[in-house]
Amino acid sequence: MKILVVGAGGREHALAWKLAQSPKIQLVYVAPGNGGTHLDSRLRNVPITDPVALAEFVKQEGIALTVVGPETPLAAGIVNIFRDQDLKIFGPTREAAQLESSKDFAKSFMQRHGIPTAEYQTFSDSAAAHAYIDAKGAPIVIKADGLAAGKGVVVAMDLAEAHAAIDMMLSDNRLGDAGARVVIEEFLDGEEASFIVMVDGKNILPLATSQDHKRLQDHDQGPNTGGMGAYSPAPIVTPSMHARVMREIIVPTVHGMAADGIPFTGFLYAGLMIAADGKVKTLEFNCRMGDPETQPIMARLKTDLVDVMEHAVNGTLDQIELEWDRRTALGVVMAATGYPDAPRKGDQISGLPHETDSQIVFHAGTTHEDKKLVTAGGRVLCVVGLGDSVRMAQKEAYAALDHIHFDGMQFRSDIGWRALKRPT
Ligand SMILES: Nc1ncnc2c1ncn2[C@@H]1O[C@H](COP(=O)(O)OP(=O)(O)O)[C@@H](O)[C@H]1O
Ligand SMILES: [Mg+2]
Repeated sequence: MKILVVGAGGREHALAWKLAQSPKIQLVYVAPGNGGTHLDSRLRNVPITDPVALAEFVKQEGIALTVVGPETPLAAGIVNIFRDQDLKIFGPTREAAQLESSKDFAKSFMQRHGIPTAEYQTFSDSAAAHAYIDAKGAPIVIKADGLAAGKGVVVAMDLAEAHAAIDMMLSDNRLGDAGARVVIEEFLDGEEASFIVMVDGKNILPLATSQDHKRLQDHDQGPNTGGMGAYSPAPIVTPSMHARVMREIIVPTVHGMAADGIPFTGFLYAGLMIAADGKVKTLEFNCRMGDPETQPIMARLKTDLVDVMEHAVNGTLDQIELEWDRRTALGVVMAATGYPDAPRKGDQISGLPHETDSQIVFHAGTTHEDKKLVTAGGRVLCVVGLGDSVRMAQKEAYAALDHIHFDGMQFRSDIGWRALKRPT
């Protein structure tokens, strides 16, 4: 059979790479794909991004099912468009995707259904927002309501920073419509983890746990990014924490969406803040897999992902179990110079190592120009290593990364530090 993956990043390369390993697969299309999906003979890039045109392409090619990677087409209703034409697609409808595309929707949903999250209030009037901040004090967190590609959240450590964030979003309109409403919420202390499950409207299938590294530089310094590295599993999510997150957050969310008449289908990602006392709160929902979490998670998945996707689109996720590589997978992102503000494009990439059982390179911002592989975006590659411990996985990843070169490359040298710090 043929499958289509929508997107162009490292997440989509990892999903397509895994789907293509299935004996059922004839070809995996990636729309629009990147330099890495272009290089793999089992994958074929398709230069289409418009959802209506993609649905036409799927019918023309007899593609059996479609998996959507990024949030933008989901928020634009690609799932609604496909389902209207009886095409199988895994992802949330436009309505369900509001869990990610509107932070106010997500917060009021969580409040209504008793799902633990930071205390908050939503504002579109700047005077009222400023007054609320003065009343609450700092630290405090300001979030643009809409999709802002990782640039919509200000964790303000003092009042001046908080007021400046309100001015930036509500008065100067610097985030456009996405920042025309803001959620102001209580600052939460703790350690973050990513909790991702697959949902078919009713049944829930949890994926392996993972942890991301948001800041650009070592020791969690520098600006926030889309993510500079991730590993799976995340030792902070112990079996009892896993049960708690399912019970307090994931199950009530899936039931709540169904009860509200907008059943959730697709990957559901809860960003967690786990406090020192073990209490857990939801920072946000994403309605898709994380990038770069997908890369180490797919590297560990042993079950045929095509089988899993078939169950997911047929509403039978209760009939399949996932099997994971017992090793740790750890991915290090290599980014272009200037990332995250103004990444430079067009630098030639050399030294990509061959894939082995313990080293895999997933592409993100890469493309082919005159038969050369060059950088084409902020996050360029994610180099994944697998090993029997976090330390061994880290060694494998950095050993593979050592061969790769492009001018101006930036990467962190401490991916996995939280897991290494934990007493074993
Ligand atoms: N209430 C909070 N307290 C402390 N830090 C927060 C809070 N909310 C968000 N953050 C930090 O800001 C980051 C981005 O916030 P998030 O809600 O995940 O928005 P997005 O991913 O859409 O930018 C989080 O990963 C976390 O580090
Ligand atoms: Mg987030």
